[in-house]
Amino acid sequence: MYLSIMKGLSTLLLLCSTALLCSAAPAVEPVTCSEDGGAAAARMAAHHIDENHDHGYKFKLSEIKGNKVEKVDDGCEIELQLDLLETTCHNINPTHFEDCMIRFETDRAVMANCSVRMSVRNGDARVRNYHCDTRQGGEMMMICPDCPNLISLHDPDGMKSVKEAVQRFNENTTNQNYFILKDVGRIKIGWMMMTGSNYWAEIALVESHCPMGSRILPEACKPLYPDRARHAYCRSSYSKSKGLRSVECEYYPPMNSTALGDGEREPICRPEDTVGLPPPPAGGVGGPPPPPDQERQRHMPPFHSFHCHGSDAAIHPICPWPRPEPHGPRLNQE
Ligand SMILES: *[C@@H]1O[C@H](CO)[C@@H](O)[C@H](O)[C@H]1NC(C)=O
Ligand SMILES: *[C@@H]1O[C@H](CO)[C@@H](O)[C@H](O)[C@H]1NC(C)=O
Ligand SMILES: *[C@@H]1O[C@H](CO)[C@@H](O)[C@H](O)[C@H]1NC(C)=O
Repeated sequence: MYLSIMKGLSTLLLLCSTALLCSAAPAVEPVTCSEDGGAAAARMAAHHIDENHDHGYKFKLSEIKGNKVEKVDDGCEIELQLDLLETTCHNINPTHFEDCMIRFETDRAVMANCSVRMSVRNGDARVRNYHCDTRQGGEMMMICPDCPNLISLHDPDGMKSVKEAVQRFNENTTNQNYFILKDVGRIKIGWMMMTGSNYWAEIALVESHCPMGSRILPEACKPLYPDRARHAYCRSSYSKSKGLRSVECEYYPPMNSTALGDGEREPICRPEDTVGLPPPPAGGVGGPPPPPDQERQRHMPPFHSFHCHGSDAAIHPICPWPRPEPHGPRLNQE
């Protein structure tokens, strides 16, 4: 029993080497080739998908729609059809995705259906590829036609509200360093009687190397190394007529809080880690390229610089795997 838990844990640790994604890692059942092993395979696939989903929110397994196992000499090929639901944990949130809450339907839920191929060889399971269709829940128009709508993550007024929220955040002089925008999770627009159009944004911020009060332009501030940076997740409310109304944030401590040695400098992301748009996906995922001035394109942590475009500009789609990037995937081919 103990041994099998340890084995599960070590599998998870491998899956969770990006520290931001996993905190408490519950034991997982090993993936086998038996026909009733679909749950373990689906769980491993969901971990893998979340591990590589580095924008927006974590997803959680909702249903196994299909599970085909094809035996080969020394193992099997598994093909899964999975339904996932978006949670309210942004991917900077250290909460384990299985402990995250699913979004209410009235809060513009997002779902994805994925087809996943895995292979098991000599007891060793790995995810070979997957692709997902990510979309907004369809019933909202019927349930609540007047509820706030998601708008494009690049919407100019939405981005204005985001910029002001980041500025307001940085007025908190308790923070040692400036924080910069890392990711816009979602932006909703709604109509309010007294103030007209209102924007509700959810954003992820990362601590930068610029000390609070320094005269460096925030645009020139580089994020600290992902596991040494604090992160913050904020919800803002902004009205077109009255400006920024509120910003509420939660802080996540750095994964690595080891004090720096004498003379050691805080590592920051090198420009080549953070700058530049990823190459267009080979699979032709479609959609127009984002404007190059998107902050979030520049402040992604190293190892995670892939972004794909779905058909809905208001949500972060689950990008296909393996990624069409020159560095190649890091994790599933050890
Ligand atoms: C998602 O579901 C639709 C309808 O059931 C199906 O046509 C599509 O192929 C699925 N997409 C993936 C990636 O599995
Ligand atoms: C200011 O920052 C500190 C952490 O540095 C945080 O604990 C506090 O809640 C923040 N205050 C506001 C008003 O955001
Ligand atoms: C924590 O950060 C320090 C300073 O960058 C580094 O030397 C150390 O290797 C890090 N520890 C881990 C476990 O990554």
